[in-house]
Amino acid sequence: MAYFDQLGQVVTVLGTQWGDEGKGKLTDILAEKYNVIARATGGSNAGHTIKVDGQKYVFHLLPSGVLYPKNICVIGNGCVIHFPTLLKELENLAKYNMNVTGRLFVSDQAHIVFDYHQEIDGQQEEQKGGAQVGTTKRGIGPAYTDKMSRIGIRVGDLLFPDQFTAKLKANIAHHRRMYNLDVDFETEAKFYLEELLPQLKPFITDTVGLLETYYKEGRKILLEGANGTHLDIDHGTYPYVTSSSPTIGGICTGTGIGAHYLNDIVGIVKAYTTRVGAGPFVTELEDETGEKIREIGGEFGSTTGRPRRCGWLDLVILRRTIWLNSLTEINLTKLDVLSGLENLNIAVAYDYRGTKLLEPPSDLDILAECKPVYKVMPGFSEDITKCRTFEELPEAARNYVQFIQDELGIPVKTIGVGQGRDEMVWV
Ligand code: GDP
Ligand code: IMO
Ligand code: MG
Repeated sequence: MAYFDQLGQVVTVLGTQWGDEGKGKLTDILAEKYNVIARATGGSNAGHTIKVDGQKYVFHLLPSGVLYPKNICVIGNGCVIHFPTLLKELENLAKYNMNVTGRLFVSDQAHIVFDYHQEIDGQQEEQKGGAQVGTTKRGIGPAYTDKMSRIGIRVGDLLFPDQFTAKLKANIAHHRRMYNLDVDFETEAKFYLEELLPQLKPFITDTVGLLETYYKEGRKILLEGANGTHLDIDHGTYPYVTSSSPTIGGICTGTGIGAHYLNDIVGIVKAYTTRVGAGPFVTELEDETGEKIREIGGEFGSTTGRPRRCGWLDLVILRRTIWLNSLTEINLTKLDVLSGLENLNIAVAYDYRGTKLLEPPSDLDILAECKPVYKVMPGFSEDITKCRTFEELPEAARNYVQFIQDELGIPVKTIGVGQGRDEMVWV
């Protein structure tokens, strides 16, 4: 297909909003032609859904390219890994006769998320009173906190049992000073070294060196982002963010692949906006339209099952996203979900006390006061799930896409019109 031919050796897929844009679907589609698929950031807070031949798969830690048996999958150094979750994913794949032996590699520099990190995540949320972040409680924040505090335990530590045991002991003691934890050090160390390590050992390696080798061999590499740009610890709606950098910088740090080697950077933009958890959301719809989008779009978290907050497309956050990530193109997803709405609103600016803002303010109090300035466009009512070319889309849908492309100044190259691999419009 012409689309694939124009892509370079290294393609990155990134979330542009607050996650759940449909990164998994495009990654899976591209993975047919890309041989090495790597995750760079986040952990099992991610939930990437793929539908193939009516069968649904949800990946939290495994890269979404794993369904092609030819593919090599890498969990990069920037990730934080809860191994019981990873092993469960592997068990699920085994049910479909899929084996990853010899083709899954886990960075020895990635950090381990223990069950007690998840417990701490929950306790931290409780302690916040009414100001919860609404985390996935997968231990992401506490694990990255340990990493930054330089007391974290890395995957490679498992290969040196004495070192691992000493670090685990110190880490648990550290957290016990602040939290009431239901963890027994001896049991935990034994579980990791005797039960998990034998299963994990074949996967653990220097993935930075491995990716360098693959790159130099000329293999095609696909880097799968997790979470979303506005959940970025630096650039998101802090403190209502995750604890890593889901933006392009995180992809470089989290794989060891330098910016110079990145070719296409595809931003996944949902045709409307969703958000799970707390935090400002200027275009949120707390009415029947929002309910309708949630229901038709199946907007319930892939990781926690929580209903996702739904709202109109927001170009203010997307303008910032494009700059932050040097996006080269857009995959607009879930356009089919908008069918049946009389009008489609797109926020082109924010109104803050009479001042027009084109970029999102960093102060959350200001952001909370911002009102969306909408461009109102006529909706469409046709079922577009069978459309495969731009020309087949109804005029109102084409206008909606064209407006987004013109406003954002980068091309919309693919448009999702359903969950399935084939349900894509190739612009
Ligand atoms: P991710 O975290 O970015 O990979 O996205 P999720 O998998 O959490 O959520 C996206 C959901 O939308 C999944 O259930 C996908 O199967 C589904 N999806 C992706 N693209 C489309 C599309 O174009 N149309 C429809 N109707 N569903 C889609
Ligand atoms: P994917 O990869 C949607 C959100 C959580 C919460 C905040 C912090 O599927 O797009 P955390 O557990 O990371 O400390 O939670 O970030 N969040 C996501 N929301 N999709 C995700 O991943 C998310 N990863 C984190 O809901 O608001
Ligand atoms: Mg998701």
